[in-house]
Amino acid sequence: MGALLAAGVLAGGLVALQGQADALENGVARTPPMGWNSWNTFGCNINETLIKQMADAIVGSGLRDLGYQYVVVDDCWFDPARDSAGNLRGDPSRFPSGMKALGDYLHAKGLKFGIYQVPVDKTCAQYFGGYPGATGSQGHEVQDARQFAAWGVDYLKYDWCSPGGTIDDQVRTFAKMRDALAATGRQIVYSINPNSIHAKTGPQRDWGDVANMWRTTEDITNRWDTGQTNGYPMGIQNIVDVTVPLASYARPGAFNDPDMMEVGRGGMTDTEMRSHFALWAVMASPLIAGNDLRSMDPATTAILKNQNLIAVNQDPLALQARQISNDGTRRVLAKRLANGDVAVALFNQGGGTTTVGTTASAIGLQGGSFTLRDAWTNAVSGSAGAISASVPPHGTVVYRVSGGASPSATPTVTPTATPTATPTATPTATPTPGGQDGCTATYRLAGDWGSGFQGEVTVRNTGSAPLNGWAVKMTLPGGQTITNLWNGVNTGTGGTVTVRNAPYNGTVAGNGSATFGFTADGSGSAAPTGMTCTSP
Ligand code: GLA
Repeated sequence: MGALLAAGVLAGGLVALQGQADALENGVARTPPMGWNSWNTFGCNINETLIKQMADAIVGSGLRDLGYQYVVVDDCWFDPARDSAGNLRGDPSRFPSGMKALGDYLHAKGLKFGIYQVPVDKTCAQYFGGYPGATGSQGHEVQDARQFAAWGVDYLKYDWCSPGGTIDDQVRTFAKMRDALAATGRQIVYSINPNSIHAKTGPQRDWGDVANMWRTTEDITNRWDTGQTNGYPMGIQNIVDVTVPLASYARPGAFNDPDMMEVGRGGMTDTEMRSHFALWAVMASPLIAGNDLRSMDPATTAILKNQNLIAVNQDPLALQARQISNDGTRRVLAKRLANGDVAVALFNQGGGTTTVGTTASAIGLQGGSFTLRDAWTNAVSGSAGAISASVPPHGTVVYRVSGGASPSATPTVTPTATPTATPTATPTATPTPGGQDGCTATYRLAGDWGSGFQGEVTVRNTGSAPLNGWAVKMTLPGGQTITNLWNGVNTGTGGTVTVRNAPYNGTVAGNGSATFGFTADGSGSAAPTGMTCTSP
């Protein structure tokens, strides 16, 4: 056991080192940034009075003291023309006191200053004709970064806003501003969106080498489900579907960004609003409110101020919840916390009330006695291992589970990067073909963007006793090659794929399931063939 633990710790350490070498280490966003952004409610209709009122409301409502710090001024703040020296300036009618004065106002209130810009010639509003001019940073990166630093900017939202450019062009172009910001010497959170008016490249790579946070999806709207996979506009369920599989990318300084919140903006029930916030919290998502903070109803205030969920979101390990199971209706996510507790989200994606459940062992805890604290009601209950709740349609119950022993394998291990970690979970796995050993595997195409696609394989335990370890074999047709795989370890080569469980999801409860996902180059129109599931 000691050797197994050592191997796990070693693998984790290697990954951490590798991650650090590649990551943007600018010292900020050690936990997901929290704050407010003007776009969701006000679009282009912004001015300094509005932003100051919002700053006053963040302080007055107590949100600042719970962590909501960044006040982000989105599109349409600038003069449509640069000055004769090429400098950006605030629009004189909207921000007559200038942007430096606004930054000073925010700082005096104990808040931080965020601003919006693009790497191309036109901001999104300029591209769509909603605002005059062409004042993007293209060719002005160093000058604009210095200007932002001089104004006291603490957070830059940098939005692609162009149909042009490959993902490699985007990496290079976003890196230019990353380096320009670093050269100013000011600590500035760097928030990017590669998806706007562009193929959805946000979920196609780990952008942690380029930015502190990166949008995973198209723009959010205040609806539960728009039917979109990753197209405009995205509902809460649609965004969760894209962002959950990217869990392994989250770490201090680097977060998946499922977009600014719609809490308090109508269009959804209170249950759905609570779910939205709970899911953002466990996904280690930036918590950037998008509602009018001057007029919040009691339900909105209670949601945004839920301290149990804020603590889960701001946990110093900065892990994003891993998917434990998903049968299409009942989805279970688990986020390991710094003190050894695990936050478990029991999410009902269906249309009727249902019981959503998992077990302490499935979420990586060992032992026979646990305490469950409900993040919404604060109710505390005891359990010998069962974790379940009756959950209304589109609802999410979150328990903070404590007790037992700490997880034996660290979920921070990125499965694809640590093939040597596999034996810790499946020391005697000798799969036999045919899927006769108590599990089945089913495939789902989760997204297709032409040159690549995202697939999901669900391993189902067909018996009533827990499954201890699993392996899925399959063949990828015609030139498909896996580019990234999560919640499993691929020990196959090329198109011949053998995916074994990751160290943390080998135990599948009786009749339960585990899911791994992958992205691949090539067309997703043909599904994998010869799929079998075996368990030792
Ligand atoms: C894009 C972004 C939005 C917002 C607008 C501003 O659509 O995704 O979040 O910044 O641009 O025009």
